[in-house]
Amino acid sequence: MPDESKKPQGSSSHQRPASSGGEFRDSDTTHVNEIHQRIVAREQEEPEEGFEPPPWWVWAISVLILFVMGFYLGRYGGSWSTVAHEVEQPAVTVGGAVKRSVKGDQVYAAVCQTCHQATGVGIPGQYPPLAGSEWVINDPGTPIRVVLYGFEGSVTVKGTTYNNKMPAFYEKLSEDEIAAVVTHIRSSWGNAAEKVTSGEVETLRAELGVRAPWSASELQTLRTKK
Ligand code: HEC
Repeated sequence: MPDESKKPQGSSSHQRPASSGGEFRDSDTTHVNEIHQRIVAREQEEPEEGFEPPPWWVWAISVLILFVMGFYLGRYGGSWSTVAHEVEQPAVTVGGAVKRSVKGDQVYAAVCQTCHQATGVGIPGQYPPLAGSEWVINDPGTPIRVVLYGFEGSVTVKGTTYNNKMPAFYEKLSEDEIAAVVTHIRSSWGNAAEKVTSGEVETLRAELGVRAPWSASELQTLRTKK
């Protein structure tokens, strides 16, 4: 066995330590430390169970999902505007003035449906039907008047008599909304009467001002005048 202890110490990092046989010297400790250091530096940290880095495609899919969500929000988010939740639709600009288009079916669902029902058949004994009702499909003035000021007392609709109360809507709904909802009830569930304009509603409202709910006979008189 060659006597390695004779060689100059620490001259090369690849030098093997003189660990086998012989006396224990200071230089031996240096080598052991050096080697130990190298081994420690080479060792990787043990990966912990459940904390392995995810595969690349997980990142790719995450980025893709984020991108798609961002696009969707940008396209349909409406800049967080509350207009999206209103009955009225977002504004359409006509010659500089902001004009909102109102949907009659949405007004109906929001304010009339609880009583007259989604199918316009009403509730027997309580709320009269609008589908096929002579009060709805004849002259446009009658349903406008009813919605504006309400209706009470005995009334016969499609051969059945009701005696209940309908509230007025002239304070709650705009002329556009009343025109839209009256147009809706005149053209739904088999009804096929002409549409109503907000101008007609405006005229009646200006003419009648503030007044009490109608009785059937009052409406009957006004109807035959037309
Ligand atoms: C709180 C319940 C209620 C609501 C809400 C209501 N109505 Fe009525 N409506 C009635 C009642 C009750 C009558 C009959 C009144 C009577 O008995 O004198 C009636 C009568 C009518 C009539 C005439 C009779 C007929 O059946 O054709 C029309 C038209 C009408 N309502 C339309 C509407 C419209 C449009 C709305 C929504 C804007 C509306 N109503 C909201 C209860 C309601």
